[in-house]
Amino acid sequence: MRSRVLSGMRPTGALHLGHYHGALKNWVRLQEQHDCFYFVADWHALTTHYEEREVIEKNVYEMVIDWIAAGLDPDKSTIFIQSRLPEHAELFTLLAMGTPLGWLERVPTYKDQIDKLKDRDLATYGFLGYPLLQAADILIYKANYVPVGEDQSSHVELTREVARRFNHLYGRLGGFEAQVAAALARLSKDDQRYYEKQRKAFGETGSAEAWGKGEALVKRAAAAIEGWSEGDTELLLGHLRGSGRAILVEPQALHTEVLRLPGLDGTKMSKSYGNAVLMRDAPAEVEKKIRGMTTDPARVRRTDPGDPEKCPVWQFHKVYSDEATRDWVVRGCTTAGIGCLDCKQPVIDAIVREQQPWRERAAALTADPKKVHWIVEMGTERARTVARQTMKDVREAMGLNY
Ligand code: TRP
Ligand code: SF4
Repeated sequence: MRSRVLSGMRPTGALHLGHYHGALKNWVRLQEQHDCFYFVADWHALTTHYEEREVIEKNVYEMVIDWIAAGLDPDKSTIFIQSRLPEHAELFTLLAMGTPLGWLERVPTYKDQIDKLKDRDLATYGFLGYPLLQAADILIYKANYVPVGEDQSSHVELTREVARRFNHLYGRLGGFEAQVAAALARLSKDDQRYYEKQRKAFGETGSAEAWGKGEALVKRAAAAIEGWSEGDTELLLGHLRGSGRAILVEPQALHTEVLRLPGLDGTKMSKSYGNAVLMRDAPAEVEKKIRGMTTDPARVRRTDPGDPEKCPVWQFHKVYSDEATRDWVVRGCTTAGIGCLDCKQPVIDAIVREQQPWRERAAALTADPKKVHWIVEMGTERARTVARQTMKDVREAMGLNY
């Protein structure tokens, strides 16, 4: 079975090259091997932009267009909008009941963002709770992997803790012990004793070896015993872990090596800093922006040698240029053999070339808004099927199915 990948993005503006190289490119790659769910995190955008409804409204479908333009394939990936699935809110609410306040207050992005976004009032309940909403987004699809930037690691870690706590609190209910006993009875007497021994050792000492041995035994049984189901495996692994049944799945963050693309001024690329090259900037715009880019401040005159390491243009060459071009840059820059505009030209050409298919796909979709809506509709219904099933399991586990 393919493992499931889930990620979301906030619709707060047109996407730029930083989004593409930092996230989207990876999303596109992942869809070849995994069952991918990608969603527009419009509720998340509201946690910081609750006073700017136009921003979000304008960018929801535009962002989907950028995604597909970049190569997301609606036949391979499930593309949807968070707010179309109230199930996320339901899970968020239910998880909120048992989540200690300290877990949210300790998330590093919480204080960071409040300090950084001083012009916004983020002393809200929604802002504090937003990593838990993110946990609900992830857990509702039982995602195995979550591709996110390093800055979001703590959110995935919180998600894991929330899932673990949920399984611990509710995973043992509903005849769990009896079902475990029934599954165990299908093992040979020796295997039963062996399993119990490993379970005890793991429970008392957390020994990885005991876990490994117990798990290997269960896997062996799964392969050898006729009529053994995946549910049986899950039961015995849950019992071995001491956590009960894994109703919610603990996800893993997926930090793929990404080349960081700085903004035009060398700081982080961001639309709000006015230093971004947009995915859909026209060629003339790209040319103008790159030509105006900051360079090594030591190169005041054309005859002053420079140091690529001190120049944001060099970071672009690392993403866009082949080795021969990069050698030409290093030699030309350090010896003042080339001027900065010469140096920037291959970058301009590479970006314009990269954008070409994006531009074509985006133009086709912009001309056919119905198609974009249809894609989102299909994705939303596909997501809903999964979300509904999880909520059924969750309600049942929590004793809410009356
Ligand atoms: N919080 C993420 C961000 O600000 C967006 C997001 C929301 C997300 N829910 C998610 C990412 C679930 C991964 C998984 O970029
Ligand atoms: Fe930067 Fe290139 Fe100019 Fe060197 S020559 S300072 S690398 S733009």
